[in-house]
Amino acid sequence: MRTLVTGGAGFIGSNFVHLTLATRPEVEVTVLDAMTYAGSETSLAGAEGQIDIVRGDITDAELVDRLVAESDLVVHFAAESHNDNSLADPWPFVHTNVVGTYTLLEAVRRHGVRFHHISTDEVYGDLELDDPARFTEATPYNPSSPYSSTKGASDLLVRAWLRSFGIAATISNCSNNYGPRQHVEKFIPRQITNVIDGARPKLYGDGLNVRDWIHVDDHNRAVWAIIDKGEIGETYLIGADGEVDNKTVVHDLLELMGRDADDYDHVTDRPGHDRRYAIDSTRLRTELGWQPEYPSFREGLAATIEWYRDNEDWWRPMKDATEAKYAAVQSVVP
Ligand code: NAD
Ligand code: DAU
Repeated sequence: MRTLVTGGAGFIGSNFVHLTLATRPEVEVTVLDAMTYAGSETSLAGAEGQIDIVRGDITDAELVDRLVAESDLVVHFAAESHNDNSLADPWPFVHTNVVGTYTLLEAVRRHGVRFHHISTDEVYGDLELDDPARFTEATPYNPSSPYSSTKGASDLLVRAWLRSFGIAATISNCSNNYGPRQHVEKFIPRQITNVIDGARPKLYGDGLNVRDWIHVDDHNRAVWAIIDKGEIGETYLIGADGEVDNKTVVHDLLELMGRDADDYDHVTDRPGHDRRYAIDSTRLRTELGWQPEYPSFREGLAATIEWYRDNEDWWRPMKDATEAKYAAVQSVVP
């Protein structure tokens, strides 16, 4: 099966490529990636020679048309993915997430190619801390940030192309991923690399916001389950019952790294900061037989800390610029 992986040099996409090469020798992989600040060929180290890597933009209709025409399956990860960046400059999010998805949809429509769209639980907005509810496939869309609204828009384009043009597509909405090769702008790698550098972790606001953590390999195994067995036209939520508040993540991380659990700073909160995400993945588990393989968030976190300790060459080049960007907009709150 010839598979085009958009955003295959980013965090989740590169892990998808490595997982695919390790478990599915019959799959031929082509990565299409613009290699923005968030994408790097170094994330595909070890895969060279086994895959084709095309440096290009998903909004480039001519390029996309040619690559889609040569494929049996498109797995669409490419996106601008960071909420904080979307608050500073929303345009790249509209361009890549909306226009880019549109460009891919038109190509899969022309060539009749199977499409899987990777999306986020953030399209559903947020939940109160004391609300027993979790997101399901029936939860109405209510995104909060420029990032999540452009992901919601891209999901709606896929749904419209399904109904109006009968393309062969599925959608998945996943919760917060962690694991190797995640950019140091994101919460967990930012704090791990701060601690390695002897700096204090930075917690937004009161630190009580809850995220529903899933290891990136469990996410990607779910993506393959949907491609293999999912019903065309349907949406599946992916989550591993991993709800933890940010303060607890920082405590655990400091303990695992041999530091005092209270050795962190509170910093300026993110405007519009979503309070809580929580996924009900019953459909994926009962209909497609998927379940997470990582035994616990704490064990996955320990493995992730080890990865960043062992792979400083990978993250060091991006660390200073990322912290400088944060320092311009965030300050420590006493
Ligand atoms: P990432 O930012 O690490 O990687 C995005 C990749 O897309 C990069 O390699 C980048 O170079 C590429 N890209 C960006 N704009 C492009 C363009 N115009 N053309 C071609 N390539 C382009 O993101 P990630 O965290 O790996 O997220 C991947 C997907 O998963 C996104 O669609 C995101 O919305 C979704 N998602 C992420 C999470 C999470 O926790 N990270 C959770 C659920 C869903
Ligand atoms: O829910 C899925 C989403 O998860 C994905 O769609 C996004 O692409 C992905 O970036 C992630 O979004 P979040 O905004 O939840 O992730 P982030 O890593 O930016 O932040 C996680 C939580 O940690 C959030 O409550 C904000 C907080 N935070 C973040 C940073 C970077 C801090 O407290 N300190 C920080 O330094």
